[in-house]
Amino acid sequence: MPLPTPLPLPDHETVSTAAAGWIEERLVRQPNSLLCLATGGTPMRAYERLAQHARSNPALLAQARILKLDEWGGIPLDRPATCESYLQESLIRPLGLGSRYVGFASQPTDPKQECARIASWLAAEGPIDLCILGLGLNGHLGFNEPADSLQPHAHIATLTPESLSHAMIAAEPVRPTYGLTLGMADLLQSREILLMVTGTSKREPLRRLLDGRISPSFPASFLWLHPRVTLLVDQAALA
Ligand code: PGA
Repeated sequence: MPLPTPLPLPDHETVSTAAAGWIEERLVRQPNSLLCLATGGTPMRAYERLAQHARSNPALLAQARILKLDEWGGIPLDRPATCESYLQESLIRPLGLGSRYVGFASQPTDPKQECARIASWLAAEGPIDLCILGLGLNGHLGFNEPADSLQPHAHIATLTPESLSHAMIAAEPVRPTYGLTLGMADLLQSREILLMVTGTSKREPLRRLLDGRISPSFPASFLWLHPRVTLLVDQAALA
């Protein structure tokens, strides 16, 4: 059954350890896996642990390919607020993964063309093997924002007020004007999906997710249609 009621782990730290272990187990089985990585507060610690383990076991990520899930459009790529800086600093640079890493530019001259570039890369290299996601307060996955309809592939997103108040960009003076994101079909065609949900702020969105009603007004609810989702939650989120 997709999305079985999760057994909560004690806290964010144990969820992060379990998430890193989940990724590593699969990388051992398939070293050249294509990983799609979300950013944000939720997966940060899991990536730190993964990087620690990869330092002592360089074979772990030696063949893996990494695709950035989304990006803030309009913020220069090297600013600390971007998804790019987050992934570069946590995994790509310290582990030397640059040649096997692909992601949206944040200030492309033609954002539509940039989405087409990522879409054709994924069409050639995909599907995603392991898709690592966090849950938006409004139910978004990446920048697949709540709407009347959702988009299948890489696209330009109109950012919701919830996304524009995200902690990642709170200290960033340049405001993003749009989002760039993989689409719902890209995510749902992943062979496996890991969703991490932690903290009291995620109680309501997690409740709504577990409710099982599938609606574009809560994009994460489409995970119910995927046969291999692992949900790691902590007690604070499930309470
Ligand atoms: P968070 O963000 O991990 O920082 O809570 C998740 C999201 O908004 O997609």
